[in-house]
Amino acid sequence: MTHTPAVPSSSPRSVSDRAAPWWRDAVIYQVYIRSFADGNGDGIGDISGLRARLSYLRDLGIDAIWINPWYRSPMFDAGYDVADYRNIDSTFGTLAQADELIRACHRQGIRVIVDLVPNHTSAHHPWFRAALSAPPGSSERARYWFRPGRGVDGGSPPNDWRSRFGGGAWTRVPNPDSTAGEWYLHLFAPEQPDLNWDNPEVVAEFESIVRFWLDRGVDGFRVDVAHGLAKHPELPDLGERAVQEERDGPVDTTDHPHWDRDEVQEVYRNWRRVSDSYAGERTFVAEAWVTGADRLARYVGADGLHTAFNFDFLMCPWDAAELRRVIDLTLTSLTAVGAPATWVLSNHDVTRHVTRYGRSDTGGFARELAPCGGMPVDLELGTRRARAAALLSLALPGGVYIYQGEELGLWEVEDVAEAMLQDPKFARTGRTRDGCRVPLAWAGDEPPFGFSLDGTRAEPWLPQPAAWAALTAERQSGDPDSMLELYRSAISIRRAHPALGDGAIAWDEAALPDVLTFTRKPDFRCVVNLSRRAVELPGEGEVLLASGPIDGALLPPDTAAWIDTARTARAAGTTCHRELG
Ligand code: GLC
Repeated sequence: MTHTPAVPSSSPRSVSDRAAPWWRDAVIYQVYIRSFADGNGDGIGDISGLRARLSYLRDLGIDAIWINPWYRSPMFDAGYDVADYRNIDSTFGTLAQADELIRACHRQGIRVIVDLVPNHTSAHHPWFRAALSAPPGSSERARYWFRPGRGVDGGSPPNDWRSRFGGGAWTRVPNPDSTAGEWYLHLFAPEQPDLNWDNPEVVAEFESIVRFWLDRGVDGFRVDVAHGLAKHPELPDLGERAVQEERDGPVDTTDHPHWDRDEVQEVYRNWRRVSDSYAGERTFVAEAWVTGADRLARYVGADGLHTAFNFDFLMCPWDAAELRRVIDLTLTSLTAVGAPATWVLSNHDVTRHVTRYGRSDTGGFARELAPCGGMPVDLELGTRRARAAALLSLALPGGVYIYQGEELGLWEVEDVAEAMLQDPKFARTGRTRDGCRVPLAWAGDEPPFGFSLDGTRAEPWLPQPAAWAALTAERQSGDPDSMLELYRSAISIRRAHPALGDGAIAWDEAALPDVLTFTRKPDFRCVVNLSRRAVELPGEGEVLLASGPIDGALLPPDTAAWIDTARTARAAGTTCHRELG
């Protein structure tokens, strides 16, 4: 194995000359690898496709990519069921290709974050296979949560915990001698047995996996289900809460027997010690769906993980007061522990925000009741708001995550034929996450829009809507009014402007109701109009960038503007959409 150092300081995009570590204000692009670009013509995205499209990411101006799981897996949950944490699934390529990709990214000045899935393994993992062949009480079973059932002949599960993918969280297995045996815990699909993090063998194995990838040169990890690893040792019933959780609404994780337990922080303190022992500012970002900004703040800080996804922001309705409340809570709670915020609008588990913002209910994806959303969507409105939300996110202090396709303004595909759906959640709940996972549209006038790079016209693993012809990267490139060029301009200005990135904001308390206005030092103002009528922009300054056309000095509804309050022309490479007269 060749050791690849993290991004060298001579890299054109190096941030090593800045005082703050790169991860405090990075723009990180989420690569959902099976839907990014297909290099071998089988209709599924892979490492060679990603490699071939790196220049697109470089031109977008991002600092890092986070790659969803690429490990060996039977793919019951799109790779979140890992059978071998130290190898690449043949669907995506080889370990040698992964090494080469990491090097190629670093050459382009792009850092690489990989997904770490510590809450559960695949049922095909050698540990789980060994556990099934071993008797109750064995050390093989002690790596997971095996328990005898309750009731007559142990025929009822050990407790009433629910699976996030619907139904109970326990599955019964036969004993090695074929008699009815114990049950094992799976907070997700039955093919994803939960690991027992009280077992030192599990702790040691994951430290070794973390080191394995750090040694290969990755710059960090996204920690899957970071709030789930610790379980109450007595596995108490949920009682009434089980009913609410069955409906798959947002779970209240307060004092919960298996979500957001304090014990989990010990795992992260240890990982932080490990990552700090490596050169190159390696980092962790937590996927932790917890109730309350203060609880989220427990995951981060000097002796915890570096950052955590801001799901309160993602779930926030398009409403000025609500957004301000979430932004303030986020900044207050994280500043108190010295951690930077992250701003997230979409990911591979939730409804794409162009669609979400085009509905009458713009809040969390969780309120969707019908299988594929079902609420009417005004895509033009959703797109306008998504453009404004992009400028809002990129102007706030901290890091920003961009889910692939967000920069193209892709919407949720709500009419994927049932027979094509692959999300394990669908069979158990009637709800699917496949609508945000449809392969990207790169070029051309019809599907598959250049998704497969070898010239074949392989069917993508999920069909793309014909209307995405208007949204291909090729079509948008160079069009100053496109979503793609908006993102490119915004990221470029963000990189050049001294006020943007890490730091603080000051709200303009004199702003009109439903208008979010804040300043950042030096000389920067962001105005987002969430009201229903056009509002006058403040007199001084020059508009650096606006998310839509500005009529004179009037900012239309659902539009955002970035203003340089010193009226100085900005550095080359930044785009002015409109200038104030
Ligand atoms: C996380 C992932 C999701 C996956 C689940 C189980 O929430 O983002 O895609 O299904 O964990 O690993």
